[in-house]
Amino acid sequence: MNKIVIYPGSFDPVTRGHVEIIKRAAKMFDHVIVAVLVNSAKKPCFSTDERLDMLRLALGNIHNVEIASFEGLLANYCKERKADAVIRGLRAVTDFEYEFQMALTNKKLNPNLETIFLTADSDSMYLSSSMVREVASMGGDISNFVPACVCEKIAEHFGHND
Ligand code: COA
Repeated sequence: MNKIVIYPGSFDPVTRGHVEIIKRAAKMFDHVIVAVLVNSAKKPCFSTDERLDMLRLALGNIHNVEIASFEGLLANYCKERKADAVIRGLRAVTDFEYEFQMALTNKKLNPNLETIFLTADSDSMYLSSSMVREVASMGGDISNFVPACVCEKIAEHFGHND
């Protein structure tokens, strides 16, 4: 049976931690949809197109990974894409409460939807997109935090590309 999983997020921007989760998910499922949330109420640092471009650069061509964007409820998008499950990465205990609440809400909205948690690897436990944004905005070195191919895009965005 063709198992489809969705890895949703803001990816503002994608980090090495996200890439690590996506690569592991691609080994476990037939098709992985990396879904960028387009949320007009939240003001992301990078536009939807920039976030999608950075994901494409970071992931290259993994044959069973699709990069897409969605608006509205994740539970509805999962129904629309006939997804069996949502994948989320867990970095630390502090992620748990929010993730648990989200998983249960999605299950109420779409009872067929499972949420699967992958633990972040030890190198990504501390990573977050907001930390990357802060370091990059001040001209710091982000090469340990994001894939090499997106470093330049992020530096350009903050005007530190010399
Ligand atoms: N490695 C590195 N960072 C990670 C990570 C990992 N493995 N997993 C999570 N993060 C970080 C992100 O970098 C981000 O950092 P930041 O807060 O510093 O920017 C943070 O964790 C959370 O980001 P993300 O995983 O992108 O989740 P999100 O909270 O931005 O988005 C959605 C969550 C999109 C899944 C959720 O908001 C959603 O489904 N929205 C649609 C509306 C909806 O259905 N609502 C009802 C359901 S609750």
